Amino acid sequence: MKVEFYKHNLEEDDIQRMVDVCRGVFLTTGQQTKAFEEAFAGYLGARHAVGVTSCTAAIHLALLAVGVGPGDEVITTPMTFAATANCVIYTGATPVFVDVDPETGLIDPEAVAKAITPRTKAIVPVHLYGLMADMRRLKATADAAGVKLIEDCAHAIESERDGVRPGQLSDAACFSFYATKNITSGEGGAVVTNDEHVARQVRLLRQHGMSASAADRYTGTYRHWDLEALGWKYNMTNLQAAMLMGQLSRIGELWGQRQRVALRYEAAFRGVEGIGFPAVVDGARSARHLFTIWVAPERRDQVLADLQARGIGVAVNYRAVHLLKYYRETFGFSRGMFPEAERIGDATVTLPLYPKLTDDEVDYVADGVTTAVVAATSA
Ligand SMILES: Cc1ncc(COP(=O)(O)O)c(C=O)c1O
Repeated sequence: MKVEFYKHNLEEDDIQRMVDVCRGVFLTTGQQTKAFEEAFAGYLGARHAVGVTSCTAAIHLALLAVGVGPGDEVITTPMTFAATANCVIYTGATPVFVDVDPETGLIDPEAVAKAITPRTKAIVPVHLYGLMADMRRLKATADAAGVKLIEDCAHAIESERDGVRPGQLSDAACFSFYATKNITSGEGGAVVTNDEHVARQVRLLRQHGMSASAADRYTGTYRHWDLEALGWKYNMTNLQAAMLMGQLSRIGELWGQRQRVALRYEAAFRGVEGIGFPAVVDGARSARHLFTIWVAPERRDQVLADLQARGIGVAVNYRAVHLLKYYRETFGFSRGMFPEAERIGDATVTLPLYPKLTDDEVDYVADGVTTAVVAATSA
């Protein structure tokens, strides 16, 4: 049996929506982008959504929009994809890592509070694998210190924790529609915010800082535009938006299928020696973006190889960012600085998780994992 790491959920309707865009005149940011932005903001109960080219672009622009720049410090987690911390560096600010909760891999709110300095400008929690960080505690810390809160929601469209959804307690929430995400346009992202100023800044900066978009300039009569600020080329296109629209309308059903797969894995691995997985927090709904298990670090790479030999697609989310070459060499980070993130980074194996996985495939993966772990242990 071969089990792919990921399969997308595009249906004929989604493809037809893209074909319709292609048959029209306007391929870049326009009517379909606007319609998706409204639908996405509506889904999250937020006032604004601004479509961009990636979550990386979203985090970069959100940080700029709240005023992060050279000389500032931004507190974030090393248990994430490099993009989160890279965006801090793009603004000229310095990423300050704090360690994570050993049970969930989420940023530790107490460690965040201790890391605040007069230079701290923002906190960027990551809702790892789909489980939200403790936003109520982070919000209290951010308010007490007078710093901004930007959520990395790359994994967290459908999430909720303690009655809070992404974007409700932060200055901005940043989403990814990358190829393996819960809804996807291959590449894509969005900034969601209730703050008028943040929305306006992100809209401006996603298109070079131009005072009028291409749609403004070319539908109807030509208008001159000005360059109000130095921005980037990060605007979402109509094609991306068309691909996302139908997936967004099916998101509840798609989440239900992810939940089915995740619960089946959890039932298979619960109590099995040598296999752990992140805790499920009471009062939280995980978006179930990734399903990761934790195995003994010295056996992890063997388990990865064994699963691939069985035709099972795997990944590692993530090796701790501070131990990646660029971060070690640029900032002098070394092993031992954030032990919980390092332990998780050394132990993690990500298994296939997507709505199309059948129960038989899930069982094949779960059996393969158990056998691989036993084999690695006795080797
Ligand atoms: C936690 C996290 N943050 C940020 C990103 C960046 O997203 P994008 O690829 O859309 O730029 C990713 C992407 O995989 C991610 O997993």
